[in-house]
Amino acid sequence: MKIPEDVRKDIPLTSEVIYFDNTATSLTPKPVIEAMDEYYLKYRANVHRGVHRLSQMATAKYEESRRVVAKFLNARFEEIIFTKNTSESLNLVALGLEELFKPGDRIVTTPYEHHSDLLPWQRLAKKKGLKLEFIEGDDEGNLDLSDAERKIKGAKLVAVQHVSNALGVIHEVEELGKMAKEEGAIFVVDAAQSVGHMEVDVKKLHADFLGFSGHKGPMGPTGIGVLYVNAEFFDTFEPPLIGGGTIDDVELCCYTLTEPPERFEAGTPNIGGAIGLAAGIRYIERIGLGEIERQEHRLVKRITEGLDELEVPWYGPRDLKKHAGVVSFNVPPLHPHDVAAVLDEHGIMVRSGHHCALPVMKKLGINGTVRASFHVYNSLEEVERFLGVMEELVKGVRG
Ligand SMILES: Cc1ncc(COP(=O)(O)O)c(C=O)c1O
Repeated sequence: MKIPEDVRKDIPLTSEVIYFDNTATSLTPKPVIEAMDEYYLKYRANVHRGVHRLSQMATAKYEESRRVVAKFLNARFEEIIFTKNTSESLNLVALGLEELFKPGDRIVTTPYEHHSDLLPWQRLAKKKGLKLEFIEGDDEGNLDLSDAERKIKGAKLVAVQHVSNALGVIHEVEELGKMAKEEGAIFVVDAAQSVGHMEVDVKKLHADFLGFSGHKGPMGPTGIGVLYVNAEFFDTFEPPLIGGGTIDDVELCCYTLTEPPERFEAGTPNIGGAIGLAAGIRYIERIGLGEIERQEHRLVKRITEGLDELEVPWYGPRDLKKHAGVVSFNVPPLHPHDVAAVLDEHGIMVRSGHHCALPVMKKLGINGTVRASFHVYNSLEEVERFLGVMEELVKGVRG
């Protein structure tokens, strides 16, 4: 495939706007929409419960989607649980592991987490009398790995994001996972900003639990997410939701749960969403993760150079090898929302605000940032147009 031209052809919106809000959600290529259309038009039925042919077909496609996700993450079929999004996946982990914790146990995380990988641990810590500790890091988002080693010693659970949605920093999840496993700690990865943008292999990362959303990197629809559960936890991870589809047998007094993955998926799942997610992953595989990384790196290099030329402060690692396709910046004294509104007037979609990472904003002493975030369909021409608008905007501000 020719990058980014061929991908842009599959996404009509790319010819109408400059879409730099991929961290929030990405645009949807036609093959994903077609796969979902096919489900709704040709074999719309519920899964797992029907003998009729439509139900059989829907079940086959739904389970095939699970196989696609499992292969993509280097996981086993039964280790893939469909959820709503990353937030739900991480909440399920915190709820399902509750019984394993005793007062005084320690959970280690970082000060850079998205609220969805912070609040569930805060709540669990409060409820069970646990200690929540944070690995030290600098203002670029780089973690102090010696501090990580000290804090992970004797910890019960370590939860880290792979890539920060606020600073763009790529964390050393593989090393942190190794440290966690050497200490016998449970290792949880928030992969919301890495899946679909770079290789995510649950074995290499030593992940016990890993969550991501279909609508971001994998270019799938909203409303579908994934929770990877390492099979070693099948007996200790208590399904937080039970009911339809999760049982082997039920009496009026009691029930026996069925095997994973069904044990962890109560009720009718997002069937069309899972099919769309698998189509998105197939699409990503057709492009190749290497191509995606290369294109995003090109764009990050040019945008950071351009912002430096304009003396616009940007955040995250100066070492671009550690910087994913997410660039946060500010144009003082303008409020980030005002900068985003000007860019919108020029057809450029960026996000502004605290990006659900208030502790990061507080650490940097700012109220928010403007964030330009990329996917493989973004082009260097778009970055040049963005920099042109920024040049005018900066001139206007500085007089
Ligand atoms: C790092 C990170 N974790 C979790 C989330 C939550 O994802 P969702 O809103 O799809 O649940 C996001 C969303 O931006 C994110 O960037």
